[in-house]
Amino acid sequence: MINLHQVSKKFSQFQAIKSVTLTIPKGEIHGIIGASGAGKSTLLRLMNLLENPDVGEVEVNGQRLTALNNQALREARKSIGMIFQHFNLVANKTVHDNVAASLELAGYPKKERRSRVAECLRFVGLEGEMGKYPAQLSGGQKQRVAIARALANNPQVLLCDEPTSSLDPHTTAEILEVLASINERFGVTIVIVSHELEVIKSICKRVTVMAAGEIHDTVTIEPTGIEKSDDRPEYFIEQLTGNGGIGHA
Ligand SMILES: Nc1ncnc2c1ncn2[C@@H]1O[C@H](COP(=O)(O)OP(=O)(O)OP(=O)(O)O)[C@@H](O)[C@H]1O
Ligand SMILES: [Mg+2]
Repeated sequence: MINLHQVSKKFSQFQAIKSVTLTIPKGEIHGIIGASGAGKSTLLRLMNLLENPDVGEVEVNGQRLTALNNQALREARKSIGMIFQHFNLVANKTVHDNVAASLELAGYPKKERRSRVAECLRFVGLEGEMGKYPAQLSGGQKQRVAIARALANNPQVLLCDEPTSSLDPHTTAEILEVLASINERFGVTIVIVSHELEVIKSICKRVTVMAAGEIHDTVTIEPTGIEKSDDRPEYFIEQLTGNGGIGHA
């Protein structure tokens, strides 16, 4: 479970997040959508304290992150995985070593690392690519490595910032399937930031629509078709719920 309580964040004089309160229940796949600059990535980064709020409380997995010292925060972050649009793999490490590095960082017992790496790569369908370097992989394969790396430490929460925005539609669908299976198999709470309605609609249960640093609304997704493109918050609500915002979560 993720709880943000009246969280605000300023960058110099710019108020990027304005007193946001949001609860995401354990096991949910939650979307965050909104126009460019609305504060989606900042909100996501507040959930693992990559951004420190100026005011407000952040609670994840029953722990108030904003009350922890650095060491306790490092410990708490082991159960919060993150993946990014551009994968953020280490170029001069093999697939195996990219995943192993996250285990090493978390102090995972050395003897058990190899088998854990293999297990995670098997889960994302890449057990045959362990010795390759990121440059030898397709975009979808790179994102699978990033997912395996995030999965290695058994996270309870997975934060995804535009995880499919660099991928073609077919590969996007495959990656979303991997994320959905992580949610289903391991009960991992997943938060997905995306500006793509189709992505949010195909995988999320509820979605928060951000506009200018605020939550415009949080709605439950209804399976209706998606029409033309627009980036007004009202448009997102309409397309996600089929009714312009009735049926609030
Ligand atoms: N480190 C930073 N320093 C200064 N301003 C920042 C910083 N990070 C974000 N901002 C500003 O805060 C606002 C929200 O940024 P954020 O990256 O959260 O938006 P976003 O909704 O993720 O946009 P996009 O869809 O383009 O990724 C933007 O106006 C951005 O310029
Ligand atoms: Mg962003």
